[in-house]
Amino acid sequence: MPIVLDLVKVVNVYQQFVFPRLLDVAMQGELFSRYRRSLLADVSGDVLEIGFGTGLNLAHYPEAVQRIVTVDPNAGMNGLAQKRIEASGVTVDQRLLSGEALPMADQSFDSVVSTWTLCSIPKVEQALGEIQRVLRPGGRFFFIEHGLAADNPGLQRWQNRVNPIQNVLGDGCNLNRDMASLVRAVFPDTHVDQFYMERLPKFAGYMYRGIATK
Ligand SMILES: C[S@@+](CC[C@H](N)C(=O)[O-])C[C@H]1O[C@@H](n2cnc3c(N)ncnc32)[C@H](O)[C@@H]1O
Repeated sequence: MPIVLDLVKVVNVYQQFVFPRLLDVAMQGELFSRYRRSLLADVSGDVLEIGFGTGLNLAHYPEAVQRIVTVDPNAGMNGLAQKRIEASGVTVDQRLLSGEALPMADQSFDSVVSTWTLCSIPKVEQALGEIQRVLRPGGRFFFIEHGLAADNPGLQRWQNRVNPIQNVLGDGCNLNRDMASLVRAVFPDTHVDQFYMERLPKFAGYMYRGIATK
């Protein structure tokens, strides 16, 4: 029993302390910033960001966006985001909760944003249903996500093999989700670009970038 408790403690320290710092370093920098900027350029109105992480999108919202609501279940991520929230001119209503069960009212947002988050949400279909529910008619879901390499069955086999390891090291991250099909199942009106992001290993670098309209 003590060994099990120790293991739980180690996992908690990794999730809440180590992983947020690793991610913060890995996902900042000009390459990721460029993709963040271009995705967020058309975000407008009342905005909800799912999987806020360490706040790396904040600097890239258009100036007209002065307030956002965010959700993320990892307190370690939320803590690291504080410095970016203070440095930005954006008011952030930061909620410590999961995307699968949003307490927000139906049709309360014009834009929902997710960047490299759908890979980590355990019940991703449920979270997409929640995103659809809280968007106003005509509202848009902006996303960039890594996932299943749609053009390469050989690589898909590797993604499936490596996925259990990625799940542990990446705090629930999955390499093998077909993001286009997942999003289209909830938002038939979805435009998606699929491509390999430069400088990333191919098994983690196949991207789905798109806008879904309710
Ligand atoms: C790879 S990080 C990306 C963080 C941020 N979106 C970015 O672009 O830097 C994935 C994020 O999803 C969050 N996450 C995990 N499970 C979640 C869930 N059920 N609902 C919402 N966010 C979740 C994690 O805590 C983490 O902050």
